[in-house]
Amino acid sequence: MRLDKFLSDMGICSRRDASRIGARGEIRVNGNVIRDPSAKINEEKDEVIFCGEKIRYEKTQIIMMNKPAGYICAADDPREKTVTELLGDREKRSELFPVGRLDKDTVGLLIFTNDGDLCHKLLSPKKHVDKIYYLKSDKPLGESDIAAFMEGVYIEKDLKTQPADLRIDTDPLYGYLTIHEGKFHQVKRMLEAVGKRVVYLKRVEFGGVSLDESLAPGEYRRLTDEERKVLMSSPSVMK
Ligand code: URA
Repeated sequence: MRLDKFLSDMGICSRRDASRIGARGEIRVNGNVIRDPSAKINEEKDEVIFCGEKIRYEKTQIIMMNKPAGYICAADDPREKTVTELLGDREKRSELFPVGRLDKDTVGLLIFTNDGDLCHKLLSPKKHVDKIYYLKSDKPLGESDIAAFMEGVYIEKDLKTQPADLRIDTDPLYGYLTIHEGKFHQVKRMLEAVGKRVVYLKRVEFGGVSLDESLAPGEYRRLTDEERKVLMSSPSVMK
């Protein structure tokens, strides 16, 4: 791979900047200063240092964000604040996009990637990727809700949800709901189907990866190697 493509794929700088910064002697490959941005490198094996920072190659980039309330999941919008605005230059240059959507008022775990295939797999209803939501209901949750969600509820005429697992917290206004699909406003509509209303909704897990609670709302980080493995192996046709 060309050195300038490597740097632009990783969101480090544009190809033009690679040429300018390379000319200043600020790019090293395996310890040697490389001024020619068209130089070929082995992206898996060579050590690339850009302005003193070691750059690791990841064809599939994946980050997790702790989504704050008040932001919509879209690339851009003329009126609303978007989660993409919260990303830094490096992530914007890498063209990371959110995997699925959370409502404007929903908070918590949002995954971004630059890999369209992975995104498709994670969202496919056939792949049964688990999502866990922590929710507050306007009325106490009970055994009948657990049974109803396990059986499946109609969130619209002819649309029954797949079995979902509700675990009620010590305070029965709160619970953890695990769903394996992602219909529009699914959790809110499931609660409505049992005569309740969601007053707070936070996604805490997606495809086996938990929200890093040390991330403040709006903050994000790259997935660890372990988290990448878990997420990438989570889409399964039969579970
Ligand atoms: N279900 C909802 O109702 N809203 C979300 O944001 C996510 C799941």
